[in-house]
Amino acid sequence: MEFSVQTANPAKAETACLVLPVYKDSDLLPAVAKLDDASERLIGQLLSRGDFDAALGNVQMIPFAPGLGAERLLLVGLGERGKCQEAAFLKALDAAMTALVKLPIDEASATFTDVPLEGRDASWKARKTLEAAERALYRFDHFKFAPAKPPTLAKLHLIVTDAAEGLLAKQGAALGCAIGQGINVTRTLGNLPGNVCTPRYLAEQAEALGRESQGALAVDILDEEALEALGAHSLLSVGRGSREPSRLIVMKYQGAEDADEAPHVLIGKGITFDTGGISLKPGEGMDEMKFDMGGAASVFGTVKAVLAIRPKLNVVFIVAAAENMPDGAATKPGDIIKTLKGLSVEVLNTDAEGRLVLCDALTYAERFTPASVVDIATLTGACIVALGHHATGLLANDDDLALDLLDAGETAWDRAWHLPLWDEYQEQLDSNFADLANIGGRPAGTITAACFLSRFADHFPWAHLDIAGTAWHSGKQKGATGRPVGLLTQYLLDREADAQVENSGD
Ligand code: BES
Ligand code: MN
Ligand code: ZN
Repeated sequence: MEFSVQTANPAKAETACLVLPVYKDSDLLPAVAKLDDASERLIGQLLSRGDFDAALGNVQMIPFAPGLGAERLLLVGLGERGKCQEAAFLKALDAAMTALVKLPIDEASATFTDVPLEGRDASWKARKTLEAAERALYRFDHFKFAPAKPPTLAKLHLIVTDAAEGLLAKQGAALGCAIGQGINVTRTLGNLPGNVCTPRYLAEQAEALGRESQGALAVDILDEEALEALGAHSLLSVGRGSREPSRLIVMKYQGAEDADEAPHVLIGKGITFDTGGISLKPGEGMDEMKFDMGGAASVFGTVKAVLAIRPKLNVVFIVAAAENMPDGAATKPGDIIKTLKGLSVEVLNTDAEGRLVLCDALTYAERFTPASVVDIATLTGACIVALGHHATGLLANDDDLALDLLDAGETAWDRAWHLPLWDEYQEQLDSNFADLANIGGRPAGTITAACFLSRFADHFPWAHLDIAGTAWHSGKQKGATGRPVGLLTQYLLDREADAQVENSGD
């Protein structure tokens, strides 16, 4: 969506709707106070009479605003001042944006940069405002007979009280737009059903991004023949029971001035449907296994954001795509396969398939002599047991990389939590018949899955993000979340900033 940053008096702002955040106490934020003065204490009175309860996330539209340039006001509750930190601020933002996009208007103005948040500047607040706006505009109804009318909102003006913050707000808003759009790409790919979003469909999306990038993204698709020739038998073993051919999708973004600068690699698990294979999953809720390409979807969303932001660094994006189905050709429990790396794997459970596609992608990544490799995967149900639906699981063979990802998650407010990857866990993968087994028993399922991957990540700093609990919502709100595009994009931006510091040092 379009945006602008304005430092004018909000009382004079000519806009179809002015969004005003208010605390539960009666002290108004600077922009809101100016409006209050100009409107015979309209807002102050609403609050003191109890006509607007500024509880967190409450919204109320005021259809007329006498004395003001705005045609409407949208009040949004921030709750108690003392409790208003990031989580509350973002909840209020989402409530405001959800209400805003329902109005029959094409532009609006908001004053969220005024809300004081410790450690968060105007750039962050502007970023989150635009990200929330993009997310609120999102619709997924093209499969419906009669889709609802799409929102008309196309432009948001950010009203900044402190003129010195104008530039920061502008930069933040641009990032928020890019990240929000990336998140929405990820949501759409996730929400698409398994009969549409197949490995070949994902490959087509990569090619489309390549075309749209006007030369910035080089796309290389390895089909089954190429994977066979390469020796990626582990990846291929997963799709063996499917009518849909597997694909390894490689997208290269060259943004660094030095074309030889070591790239950062992101690898996404792209199981476009996970039935479990011969180790068939129970029927209940199995439809949600269409989201088992959430890691891949987040890689595509990050590509989208990167193409909008154009950071000066090199990134290789890899998606390992397959459909896990049972049939006469499917891999069976006990089968032994040979990975691209050469290690043999005893497949004790065909439902532990994500690691089987990722291990070959990790080996493939070696050829880029990467600065870092991060894989993103809806890998284990155990991660949901451990962390629920708020934190992404993080495991790494390098503590600096783990910290960088934790930091990026904090900054983007798309947070991860570090779990141990100690050697003691490795023996759970011992096999009597092959170099390793693909499952490690019930204890610490998320850790043993990462242990499996770590065997294929011995040549570079590597981290694994288990997004089983964070990639989608179940129940009434069923749908992809777009996580962790915010974290990944921030991670890349931070690496760009690091590189700039390094380059200026010599
Ligand atoms: N895609 C699933 C993990 C998953 C399950 C994510 C439910 C989100 C919700 C993965 O392929 C899988 O089936 N993992 C197994 C591993 C087990 C067989 C060791 C699991 O978690 O049960
Ligand atoms: Mn599975
Ligand atoms: Zn899976």
